[in-house]
Amino acid sequence: MPPTDSLPLPSNEASPHLELTRPDDWHLHLRDGEMLGRVVPYTARVFGRAVVMPNLSPPVATTAAAEQYAERIRSHVPAGSRFRPLMTLYLTESLSPEEVARAAASPDVVGVKLYPKGATTNSADGVEGLDALESVLVAMEKAGLPLLIHGEVTETSTDVFDRECRFLESTLAPLVERHEGLRVVFEHITTKEAAEYVMSAPPRVAATITPQHLLLNRNAIFEGGLRPHLYCLPVLKREEDREALVAAAISGDPSFFLGTDSAPHTRETKEASCGCAGIFSAPVAIEAYAEAFARAGALGRLEGFASHFGADYYGLPRNEEKIRLERADWIGPERDGEGDSAVEIFWAGSPFQYKLAD
Ligand code: NCD
Ligand code: ZN
Repeated sequence: MPPTDSLPLPSNEASPHLELTRPDDWHLHLRDGEMLGRVVPYTARVFGRAVVMPNLSPPVATTAAAEQYAERIRSHVPAGSRFRPLMTLYLTESLSPEEVARAAASPDVVGVKLYPKGATTNSADGVEGLDALESVLVAMEKAGLPLLIHGEVTETSTDVFDRECRFLESTLAPLVERHEGLRVVFEHITTKEAAEYVMSAPPRVAATITPQHLLLNRNAIFEGGLRPHLYCLPVLKREEDREALVAAAISGDPSFFLGTDSAPHTRETKEASCGCAGIFSAPVAIEAYAEAFARAGALGRLEGFASHFGADYYGLPRNEEKIRLERADWIGPERDGEGDSAVEIFWAGSPFQYKLAD
């Protein structure tokens, strides 16, 4: 897709402030129970809407379960915020075409999420192949309900850094070709190949990009020792991949939009002999994206990526409210909570150039 965002790239000179249409987060983990109450306010502080992932245990696999989960989320939205959760169904082998029709008719549900079995946190109920799901995919195509994909193969013989590329070749690209009307969001892309693929694919194929994949390469995981709080899936990749993701994000191509993949895990489960994958960025998400765009000299392209293209893709109105980011050198907060149940925050202790105004 050629760029449709007409905003010019600004000079590298820092602007004193930046006004944006209120952004949305098109890929977010909120969990449930106590954690839900802790994390919802961070997202509701800045984002108008968020696409909420269904990888709870047990997974959110029906429209009724998604609607109940949406209600629990709404009960934690602070007074004064108009934050709205947008729900997804977990694609299991028992999903039926009838359930897809119910999902498409629900005001809360915006998509179906595909996890390859075993690919990531709470993916044990994911799918092993797409063959058994033909009728479900046809129903989604008919209903115009997007399929959100965690794009990694899972076989242990494939190097962990190649899993996204192998999935793209073996599964995602053939799926897009086979189902000519299927809308597909390639979630949290991490490689140059994925970015190039989405750029050349039809407009029904889009991708989300996380702040960590724009700001860091895989060296960060090993800098001075093992850094469990920088471990997420798909894992950070090479510098050339990071550069390709930045180029895609700032290109003005509406197929790329904001999705934090903010995924809270407690310190106890991250700093362990088998630590969980997931980076919690919600408290500093918009500032982290602003940091990446500022470093690329492309702040003028942030609004399209953060506030316009996702809404346009999902066929939802753009938010009407505005937010303001102020030029300020500040250091991000370290964690939410204390002790074993604390959740470490992305970019903790590192400087930001922009801060959300109150
Ligand atoms: C996510 C989680 O913790 O739920 N983890 C992650 O590393 N991104 C799952 C996911 O999106 O893969
Ligand atoms: Zn995720």
